Amino acid sequence: MSSARDLFHRNKTRIKNFGEVFTLDTHVKQMIEQLSLHSKGNEEIWSDEKISFFEPTCGHGNIVEGIFEKRLNSFYQKAKISKNPSPEHYSIANALNTLWAIDIDDAGLLG
Ligand SMILES: C[S@@+](CC[C@H](N)C(=O)[O-])C[C@H]1O[C@@H](n2cnc3c(N)ncnc32)[C@H](O)[C@@H]1O
Repeated sequence: MSSARDLFHRNKTRIKNFGEVFTLDTHVKQMIEQLSLHSKGNEEIWSDEKISFFEPTCGHGNIVEGIFEKRLNSFYQKAKISKNPSPEHYSIANALNTLWAIDIDDAGLLG
């Protein structure tokens, strides 16, 4: 079964009006891996609360979702290692607080 993350485009009108062609999930995962590689394998970029991410053309949120998952996991691991008493709260709060996304089309999100 395919999901929103496998969607490549919805229709030609939306491609014409908004340039709406989605990045496939496999490519989103590769982009996230590339970011780790460009940081010389430094996975700590994902659990650094001082780093925020901004997706200026988020569409239905596929890249945002990939970044959120990666950061949630990384913040959680960091919290566990440092014996944070509330790793779930710490990871959700920081993953949300450091991720921003906008899109020109407020009907871009899929239900
Ligand atoms: C090619 S899609 C990319 C969506 C998503 N980032 C991805 O990679 O799958 C381009 C998106 O940019 C949005 N967009 C186009 N012009 C924009 C603008 N000036 N400001 C913000 N978003 C814009 C469109 O609505 C569309 O959702």
